[in-house]
Amino acid sequence: MCGIFGYCHFLIEKTRGEIIETLLGGLQALEYKGYDSSGISIQGDELGSLDIYKQTGKISNLREEIDLRNPNKNLSFISHCGIAHTRWATHGEPKRTNCHPLNSDPSNEFVVVHNGVITNFANLKALLGEKGYVFKSDTDTECIAKLYKKIYDTSIELGFNLDFHVLTNLVLNELEGSYGLLCTSSHFPDEVVAARKGSPLVIGVKGKRSIKTDVVEVEYLDQNENYLEINAPTKNSEDILDELPVQYNSSLRKSPPLRSQYLGTSTRDKDISSLNHVSSRELLKEGGLLQPIEFFLSSDCSALAHYVNNVLYLEDNDIAHIYDGELHIHRSNVNPGDFSFRTVQKLESELSKMIKGPYDHFMQKEIYEQPETTENVMRGRVDASTNRVVLGGLENWLTELRRARRIIMVASQTSYNSCVAARPIYEELMEIPINVESASDFIDRDCCIFRNDVCIFVSQSGETADTIHALKYCINNGAVTIGVVNSSGSSISRLTDCGVYLNAGPEKGVASTKSYTSQYVALVMIALCLSEDSVSRIERRKEIIQALTLIPNQIKEVLELEPSIIKLCENELEKQETVFFFGRGFQFASALEGASKMKEISYVYSEGILTDDLKRGALSVVDNVLPIIVFATKDAILPKVVSSVEQIMARKGNLIIICNKGDKTWKQKKQPRNIVTLEVPQTVDCLQGLLNVIPLQLISYWLAVKKGIGVDFSRDPAM
Ligand code: F6R
Repeated sequence: MCGIFGYCHFLIEKTRGEIIETLLGGLQALEYKGYDSSGISIQGDELGSLDIYKQTGKISNLREEIDLRNPNKNLSFISHCGIAHTRWATHGEPKRTNCHPLNSDPSNEFVVVHNGVITNFANLKALLGEKGYVFKSDTDTECIAKLYKKIYDTSIELGFNLDFHVLTNLVLNELEGSYGLLCTSSHFPDEVVAARKGSPLVIGVKGKRSIKTDVVEVEYLDQNENYLEINAPTKNSEDILDELPVQYNSSLRKSPPLRSQYLGTSTRDKDISSLNHVSSRELLKEGGLLQPIEFFLSSDCSALAHYVNNVLYLEDNDIAHIYDGELHIHRSNVNPGDFSFRTVQKLESELSKMIKGPYDHFMQKEIYEQPETTENVMRGRVDASTNRVVLGGLENWLTELRRARRIIMVASQTSYNSCVAARPIYEELMEIPINVESASDFIDRDCCIFRNDVCIFVSQSGETADTIHALKYCINNGAVTIGVVNSSGSSISRLTDCGVYLNAGPEKGVASTKSYTSQYVALVMIALCLSEDSVSRIERRKEIIQALTLIPNQIKEVLELEPSIIKLCENELEKQETVFFFGRGFQFASALEGASKMKEISYVYSEGILTDDLKRGALSVVDNVLPIIVFATKDAILPKVVSSVEQIMARKGNLIIICNKGDKTWKQKKQPRNIVTLEVPQTVDCLQGLLNVIPLQLISYWLAVKKGIGVDFSRDPAM
């Protein structure tokens, strides 16, 4: 949930005030992620010195803190690198000493902002503590800053003069866990390094002239050439290895092999020779002459949208080094399957998707995008004329995938619910065991994973730590892995063997809405694709494929329920503290997802319960107040649902029923009290959840709005 922002300019005159505003503007753009504190680091009054400003709470508190310290905002800089961070506490409570940037020492020789978790930080802290380093915070990040200083000081003592990126490589080799980080240093004025492993980082570039480059080549640190020697040829590099605080002999660790990218989805797959490419140092120079240039760095490309049109995503284990108006991307290892370039991508198309348009909130906008996003995920993949589903990203793996003895879907929260929604159709079409696993639970157990298992990893962001952890476990156990991911270039998309992109566009609202329906469609498409050779399922597959093509328009129809949903929220739900959702069969997932949205967005306690479990306890809490939302759309088990609902009616339960248009069942019933019905169009049973979930998204959205909750933000008790 933390956010990183950095701003570097070169050969442009900017006042300190302008630099501060840009950094605060970047933090503001990351605000939707939720945070409990924030901070920035900029150049101090002394040449090369660095100042840090940090404060808990809102960004306005940080602004007040800066104003209180009253730096000279008129001081101007021709070149400068500043870094900034919004924090959501993981290690250490939200207090000022724990805010980022964290420093190496009181004079801020090295200053770091960091997303992710350093898992060996306790060991590093102990090691550095023994060497006399005093830790001021409870964060894992502080050990990164101190490690920088320790390695820098040792190298200087030994007569080495390391480049900033070489120093960074040595620091990173000692870290375990995940990071997206920026570091600035008083020893490297006007330079910044950015590095990532498991936590996204993107760099935006803005030059006076337009950027004509498609790709930037990666510069490899040669493993056979000892780069310590390059910087100090008179010294034996063994000396530095022996005398540095921790062992570097194992330093050039192998990163996991980069697997194939999903076909046909980005310029990453193109033949580089057809692109206009340059080595990174030449990226922005005109005829070898230095040009005015600005670089914006962030953990989230949406924070860059106001500043730049061109962005470049870093890969895991990349070290970007910016200085003198140049951008260099370094890596220490060449791995099989690595791309030796990073593509420069246009942001404009993404930008329009990040603007709220006529909507009050991103969540509302994203709910309304679903006719389009469900269409996008099927585009070019579902062919209703031939009743075929062709998934380019799976093509090369179909033989292995169809040989699977078991399919395991792994995901977190909403993405998990989409797997629950798709599970029954996998069982029906594939006739093999299908497991659905919550990623955190999966990694807590030593699950048995075999080489003939196919594991599907579902994630909007492609960066959820538990899901990545589970994915690596399955890779190590030899399973074939599929990614179902929205963010292209994300860790899950890179690590999996093959996959399907959702193409849903950025999801800015904190609640996952359009991703759920796109994941659901993508998973159904995979089941249809993998079961293509099953003769006995031909008719069923045709029925589903034909129904899929109608879904986008049917979602439009469901969205027309919004006025009745607003009334329902005002009349029935606004004052309630608890809401239950009941669903069974294909609709159990709808109940889970409804309850999840209700808690997350409307702050209403909620449970998603199997309708049949009513008789196992839940019935005892039914009264004439507790709202009970029941999914009673038409499928083979509707009669069982009706019987459960009758038990609730007998207790004068406060029922809200989601049923199909024109279903007379409820009007014909003798009712002890009025039942509210929300009628949705009918589709084939296994897709009905795509339509049933829309009213739930709207209910949780409107309930939150009525209660004055900031729907696009995470709940933060500190604010
Ligand atoms: C719920 C929500 C989160 C995500 C979860 C998994 O509305 O947005 O709970 O579902 O964090 O995230 P991804 O799908 O990015 O792996």
